Amino acid sequence: MTNTALILAAGSGSRAGSALAKQYQLIAGKPLLRHTLEAFCRHPKVDAVRVVIAAGDEARFKAVASDLDTTPVIGGATRQESGRLGLESLAGTPPRHVLIHDAARPFVSASLIDKVLAGLERHQGAIPAMPVTETLKRAPAGLIAGTVDREGLWSAQTPQGFRYGSICEAHSRAAAAGLAHFTDDAAVAEWAGIAVAVVEGEPANVKVTTSDDLRAAEQRLTRDRLQHCPDIRVGQGYDVHAYEPGDRVVLCGIAIPHHARLAGHSDADAPMHALTDALLGSIGESDIGTHFPPSEMQWKNAASAIFLRHAAGLIEKRGGFIANTDITIICEAPRIAPHIPTMRANLSEILKLSPDRVGIKATTNEALGFIGRGEGLAAFATATVRLP
Ligand code: CTP
Ligand code: MG
Repeated sequence: MTNTALILAAGSGSRAGSALAKQYQLIAGKPLLRHTLEAFCRHPKVDAVRVVIAAGDEARFKAVASDLDTTPVIGGATRQESGRLGLESLAGTPPRHVLIHDAARPFVSASLIDKVLAGLERHQGAIPAMPVTETLKRAPAGLIAGTVDREGLWSAQTPQGFRYGSICEAHSRAAAAGLAHFTDDAAVAEWAGIAVAVVEGEPANVKVTTSDDLRAAEQRLTRDRLQHCPDIRVGQGYDVHAYEPGDRVVLCGIAIPHHARLAGHSDADAPMHALTDALLGSIGESDIGTHFPPSEMQWKNAASAIFLRHAAGLIEKRGGFIANTDITIICEAPRIAPHIPTMRANLSEILKLSPDRVGIKATTNEALGFIGRGEGLAAFATATVRLP
């Protein structure tokens, strides 16, 4: 390994003030941490990514990064400790360089990573930083006690790059000396006598810290994504399944007790099948039956979430995203309304969409036709999809 990115994501995000730590909050449809991970995973010079997470966040992390080839390690009580534990976890396959980065900085650009790597060719360490432009005051009790000369002052960003061996040793020695006050890795390096160069940071490479920062990040990533994906598509789908003797129906992945079940090869989840077809249709793909032939035994009793994930994955592979989905379920019974919130939550999790982008409605067929006679259930779906 030449360059490994070490992403620190073990903080609790207390200043952002929500129960779910900021790195797992959805921003423009994806967890914050996912945006950060993708920036490093898609960089051609980054060979591996190691993420430091908090104990207890294993399942949450898995949901964020299941498709990425990376095993997390558990961090500590401070950023410094999380950094050290992450570095030590790489000792088995030590990289030449390590780029230590805050998960809370999702706007890191490829060119900034390049600049830090270029700095590392000439120095033991290199960090991006911004020259301080404001006048600085020291005001310990709210009253100004002095003005600090800003000449030569920089405000540090990440990724901070180091020769792996030297920063790992510096962290171990600092911990052994009982020092626990370092707020970034360059400070640990400085203490250990490692020369660290400053490369020019980017104003956009902010650290998401408060709930206002989260909102600003959402706005910015949404705008970037809309600009990047101007090609608007609409797909539609329809599915119907007949009732047969049974005790439950599965709709949008949720089992609802009923005196019948839907007949079908898979779990016969008609709304989810209709939605899968709408997504496939939006990108000109053939329908669900072609992708998952009913003649193949492996799809017998299959959970339809597999089909839906597959369709969403095809859109993602093309660099696009789903803007919204909408479903109408038509049946006389069971009553669907009480289950709609759970169904929406399930679809929004599968599609990584905020719940306000997932519509589900139900209606009866006014006792008319096969649906009116209770012989089956039908579902329509539409999806808006945007492609580059
Ligand atoms: N971090 C970490 N382990 C810790 C503390 C922080 O890995 N014990 C990580 C955070 O997840 C974040 C980065 O270090 O990506 C920068 O820290 P900060 O912005 O302070 O995040 P939090 O500590 O989570 O937030 P807060 O200080 O508001 O609680
Ligand atoms: Mg913190």
